[in-house]
Amino acid sequence: MPITFVFALICLSLPVKTQPEEDGVLFEIEENVLEFDGNPIWQGKTNSLMGCSQTCARQLACKRVIFEANKGTCVHLGEGQTHLANTPAKQGGTFYLKKITTTGIYSLLGTSKSAAVASCQTLHSQSQSGVYWIDPDGGSQVNAFRAYCDMKTDGGGWTLVWSYSFTNYGAFTSESNAVTPRPNWQVTPEVNVPISTTPPINETNFNAMNFALWKLLGRQILIKSNINNWLVCHPGTGSLVDWQEGEVSCKVVKHVTDQCLNALAPSKISPSKGYGPKLYRDNEFHSLYYYFDGYTSKNWPSHDPCGTGKSNHLKNVVNPHGNIYIRA
Ligand SMILES: *[C@@H]1O[C@H](CO)[C@@H](O)[C@H](O)[C@H]1NC(C)=O
Repeated sequence: MPITFVFALICLSLPVKTQPEEDGVLFEIEENVLEFDGNPIWQGKTNSLMGCSQTCARQLACKRVIFEANKGTCVHLGEGQTHLANTPAKQGGTFYLKKITTTGIYSLLGTSKSAAVASCQTLHSQSQSGVYWIDPDGGSQVNAFRAYCDMKTDGGGWTLVWSYSFTNYGAFTSESNAVTPRPNWQVTPEVNVPISTTPPINETNFNAMNFALWKLLGRQILIKSNINNWLVCHPGTGSLVDWQEGEVSCKVVKHVTDQCLNALAPSKISPSKGYGPKLYRDNEFHSLYYYFDGYTSKNWPSHDPCGTGKSNHLKNVVNPHGNIYIRA
């Protein structure tokens, strides 16, 4: 007689005393299983499947349970006690539950559309950088999509929203140079590089997430480039995602060049003046640090680690590019 297996997943939020840093245990259930004929690590009475699984969740040594509903017996199996007797359990209502470690639960987050997270910041802090499913607007996961997460820089939790390259890196200060493509943010109509609304899935997949979604991810920005220093900026009166001109508080989180190691990080943002957002200290021309210029007939996209709006970016870099990430 064929034995039917029914799989289900239950997520229990339990305080696990033996592992204080962990707060959840996942069980995989099979119904109508074979009986266990060895010596279990514990056997007792519980009045429900949930009660039985909770006793196992609290026991580090417990890896599986068998619960017989009609007798109310709960059997704990330890590591390696996976072999069941060949005799099927005589009655229905016998459940075999397999415990999945808590790190297993966290590793499921963001790995499928149905397990999409709000942003990279929702992932477990032990997660590796890479592509995950996210659903910034919450609710139905139908519109979840894949995005790249940096889980390392300055504590991690960063969602990649833009990867760009340059139209003329070789002649960096020529007016034909611009960043490309650009996000669908509101800039003067002269700005003529292509617009992208496709989330970039890595740092050299040159695309941009729909700008309307950026503010759902947070207001801190991480700017990375392989030709200029990396910055983390907190919003003040100014905010890139709110498209608001004003003060920001930036720090250099990585020096990409040895030039101007003592230069101060920018302190102001001006999103819509000129042909794209600018980060600078006091003068929007002579203290530019980053200028995301998207017009190929005027200006050029300063990436100046000295914060002087001059040509101090790293030269002769293969595949020059930049990235913007967001977190709350
Ligand atoms: C980045 O993504 C593009 C497009 O999917 C792919 O062709 C490329 O190999 C990826 N690069 C890296 C470094 O993963």
